[in-house]
Amino acid sequence: MAARSLVRYAQSKNVTPQIHRCAASLSGFEIQHKTPIISKRMPIPKAHYGGRHTVSLLPGAGIGPELMKYVKEVFVFAGVPVDFEDIDINPNADNDDDLDYAIASIRRNGVALKGNIETRSTEAEVKSRNVALRNELDLYVNVLHCVSYPGVTSRQKNIDIVIIRQNTEGEYAMLEHESVDGVVESMKIVTRPNSERIARYAFEYAKRNGRKKVTTVHKANIMKLSDGLFLEISRDVAKEYPDIQHNDMIIDNTCMQLVSNPHQFDVVLTTNLYGSIVSNVCCGLLGGAGLLSGKNYGDHYTVFEPGTRNTGGKIAGKNIANPVAMLNAAVDMLRHLGHKHHALIIQNAINKTINAGIHTRDLGGTATSREVIDSILKHIKIQSN
Ligand code: NAI
Repeated sequence: MAARSLVRYAQSKNVTPQIHRCAASLSGFEIQHKTPIISKRMPIPKAHYGGRHTVSLLPGAGIGPELMKYVKEVFVFAGVPVDFEDIDINPNADNDDDLDYAIASIRRNGVALKGNIETRSTEAEVKSRNVALRNELDLYVNVLHCVSYPGVTSRQKNIDIVIIRQNTEGEYAMLEHESVDGVVESMKIVTRPNSERIARYAFEYAKRNGRKKVTTVHKANIMKLSDGLFLEISRDVAKEYPDIQHNDMIIDNTCMQLVSNPHQFDVVLTTNLYGSIVSNVCCGLLGGAGLLSGKNYGDHYTVFEPGTRNTGGKIAGKNIANPVAMLNAAVDMLRHLGHKHHALIIQNAINKTINAGIHTRDLGGTATSREVIDSILKHIKIQSN
């Protein structure tokens, strides 16, 4: 599947208009975790026939199913005009029928909310179904907006970094083979069209969201051809955006700088694996895996999910998982669908809960998942009275 998709991407010559469309859809997506003022007189619009959206819902493994139940509960409580098409993916299935169905559903609905799908087998022929899904839908951008919550005790304060990650190739090409006994080769694929469209996306994002600087993160000192191409293309694209400062940084140094001096970063543009690493570093700086959401964009489909994409298998079913990252993903989805009022009300309720110190144990608190949700429901009710 991955190889087929890559060939398709490589054939794509002119991607610029799609990038502009895709980046344009991001305008107004800047998130602040300080609660904006909202009039108590603003009613929650009643859900009505017509105007409703159907969204594919993939709970995935580990804590995914319980977090999706909370999302549904919050949506029903707030009267959100969204219906879900539930799709369970069986990690033990011996064929890809359920994954194919999920992809068909997302193609039909255009939008999905997703937990992480488990890929249990370590056998080489069993591919990651998360990667396959992103490749099949050509979700070539992952955006993680890392904004500090004032009410969360974290290693660094007042962080506001956007990580823009190439989401379909690089080290995730899943092309590995044993050339001779005991020697394994793993192919990292970097293509000009995909590097160009992700670079352009990052600069368009910066331009439309008033960002000042883009930092390309790479390892071109060692991977001179693959990362060298990615870096060279980002430098070329940067020339078209003279108002936005551009610099570059090696991935190793980036991780150190993120921990010691994160405020120097504005927009980070990077390849797939480095993107996953810097995303996890940033989430760790801000409070961990349970807070932030990530967005996967292509030209036609959008998939929302928690920022770090892990399953949280060890804490599943214990009523201790932080429900906020998945709820933030659901709020992102509502904004994308144009349900701005519902997005704002739920976002406010999350912010008030977190900033009032109602924290699950991953944030150093003692609240259960249920107690966090109850507080969010209470704040939704207060805003609608
Ligand atoms: P994990 O699922 O064990 O999570 C890492 C840590 O974050 C754990 O301590 C977990 O308890 C905590 N955590 C995660 N979500 C949380 C939440 N909502 N509330 C509170 N704590 C939360 O991560 P691991 O072992 O890296 O991966 C497990 C599975 O996820 C594997 O199948 C892996 O392939 C997949 N995965 C992980 C990614 C990652 O960035 N860690 C990325 C993509 C896939």
